Amino acid sequence: MILVTGGAGYIGSHTCVELLNAGWEVVVFDNFSNSNPEALARVERITGRKVNWIAGDCRDRAALVAALQQSKAEAVIHFAGLKAVGESVEKPLSYYDNNVIGTIRLLEAMQACGVKKLVFSSSATVYGDPVKLPLTEDHPLSATNPYGRSKLMIEEILRDLQRSDSSFGVSILRYFNPVGAHTSGLIGEDPQGMPNNLMPFVSQVAVGRREFLNVWGNDYPTIDGTGVRDYIHVMDLALGHLKALETLEAIYNQQDRRFFQCLTVNLGTGQGYSVLEVVRAYEQASGKSIPYRIAARRPGDIAACFADPTRAIELLGWRAKLGLPEMCASSWHWQSANPKGYQN
Ligand code: NAD
Ligand code: WQD
Repeated sequence: MILVTGGAGYIGSHTCVELLNAGWEVVVFDNFSNSNPEALARVERITGRKVNWIAGDCRDRAALVAALQQSKAEAVIHFAGLKAVGESVEKPLSYYDNNVIGTIRLLEAMQACGVKKLVFSSSATVYGDPVKLPLTEDHPLSATNPYGRSKLMIEEILRDLQRSDSSFGVSILRYFNPVGAHTSGLIGEDPQGMPNNLMPFVSQVAVGRREFLNVWGNDYPTIDGTGVRDYIHVMDLALGHLKALETLEAIYNQQDRRFFQCLTVNLGTGQGYSVLEVVRAYEQASGKSIPYRIAARRPGDIAACFADPTRAIELLGWRAKLGLPEMCASSWHWQSANPKGYQN
């Protein structure tokens, strides 16, 4: 049994599908502040398996202790948190409260219940403005906004905890840019209000919810002047979590627990695409035209960011398999079947 905090969200729901397909039982712990229980009903439809869920907040230690005890979970995958960079600048306390305090409460509950395996959602944002590409895990860490700083703080807390208690097995997964959806078109990314990220914005233009895309800057030192990112299919990302969990299990089952450590791994493809390359790929996948206008650079944006995925291959035996055409096609399948997301 795996406790999945934030399991009703975008990445969590897709990961639940792969966990259930691999034979794990899951219990989702989510306050539904940025998600809908409908996503979990759809995970049940996709997998034909039961999804247990608890409406609860990660800042509530007692609720987490009860969830861990009742479910007899042996490990936790911790997705729960707030993730909008701009909002984090306006409401930093809310980000430190939800993300940092929420994680501390979770770790306390895990310690109290003797649950010692954790997979944590970190982000490539912890590399700040890259000094060297591709990004390896030993690249210097920094943050440029409260969201990124909350991830960096949590990473440090996890490293300190693991140093203090070597029986704690932690995997820190640094995601690059997750996009796309499950091939069924039943689950996908469903941002509330104006999408902050590129692919959901493009998909809403394609489906007619928005008139045009603003391309934030075309004067970067990149292939066509627009920002380059390492987009990764959410189903590949989901499988990365399964591999991280299996790797922690394998280490845990060895006699010598001294091998337990923080497995810190990039989850990216290693391939960068520009904004205009994404727009063209989406037009091809959807058969729709995506009108766009070039606008000023978005404050805080970087020119390019892509992973060195070598460590994930070596340590987890995982590599991303799906390319940009599959990312766009699956995103379009979800968006065109659910133009208003889960509100349909
Ligand atoms: P999401 O908003 O779709 O999912 C997060 C889930 O956590 C939601 O279901 C939300 O209701 C829940 N939640 C938030 N605060 C909570 C709390 N205090 N207690 C209980 N539940 C809470 O986001 P996502 O894109 O699925 O991201 C999942 C994780 O991955 C986040 O930690 C995010 O920071 C990280 N991440 C996301 C991206 C990305 O681009 N999507 C990139 C890197 C890292
Ligand atoms: C991608 C590219 C934009 C929207 C953010 C967070 C990061 C991580 C992933 C959680 C950039 C351009 C975008 C638009 C555009 N999240 N763009 N028009 O900025 O790489 O990362 O999400 O951890 O922390 O910062 O992703 O999808 O916002 O932008 O031109 O309407 O698309 O300028 O070049 P980003 P993104």
